[in-house]
Amino acid sequence: MGVFEAVRTVLAVRSYQDRAVPAEVVSRIAEAARLTASSQNRQPWHFIVVEARAALRQLGALCTSGPYTADAAFAIVVGVNADSRSGTADAARAIQSMVLTAWEAGVGSNWVGIARADEVRTLLGAPSTLNLVAVVPFGYPARRAGLGKKDRKPLGEVVHRGRFGVPFA
Ligand SMILES: Cc1cc2nc3c(=O)[nH]c(=O)nc-3n(C[C@H](O)[C@H](O)[C@H](O)COP(=O)(O)O)c2cc1C
Repeated sequence: MGVFEAVRTVLAVRSYQDRAVPAEVVSRIAEAARLTASSQNRQPWHFIVVEARAALRQLGALCTSGPYTADAAFAIVVGVNADSRSGTADAARAIQSMVLTAWEAGVGSNWVGIARADEVRTLLGAPSTLNLVAVVPFGYPARRAGLGKKDRKPLGEVVHRGRFGVPFA
């Protein structure tokens, strides 16, 4: 799958098959995060791979906007050092690397925001100096994704040519 094709077709996947993702695919997804560029190459991040079903259930219970995390094959919790000024941007880029790498392997995922950060930190033994940015659950999609059917603003509304307000196309 080419890069643009992955970007064009990837969708938020919120329900998963009860099927394990091969260890090499899990490792490749984690490697994609590690290889991502960050501001000044500071790499202010940590990625906690959660695979145990009991832990995924507990994580799902804490993710009010992503309870389906409980049913994922695995999840990766992304945190950044609290003193990092670019941490959220760096983490967002690493998350996109993981989402696209997973998608190429047929694995769906989604960004889940973290409301109960203290409890998630306690669950995972993470220090208070780690700002949690997102939980990313992964798994083979339970339903066939509507490839490329995206609900997005038209190009002319958000892309400008030369000056703001001049539609690119
Ligand atoms: C920064 C960010 C935060 C998000 N938070 C959540 C979330 O907490 N729960 C959830 O189910 N989806 C979350 N999403 C997924 C978006 O709702 C989803 O990508 C968007 O509605 C577009 O849908 P699509 O990706 O299927 O085209 C988040 C996405 C981003 C980029």
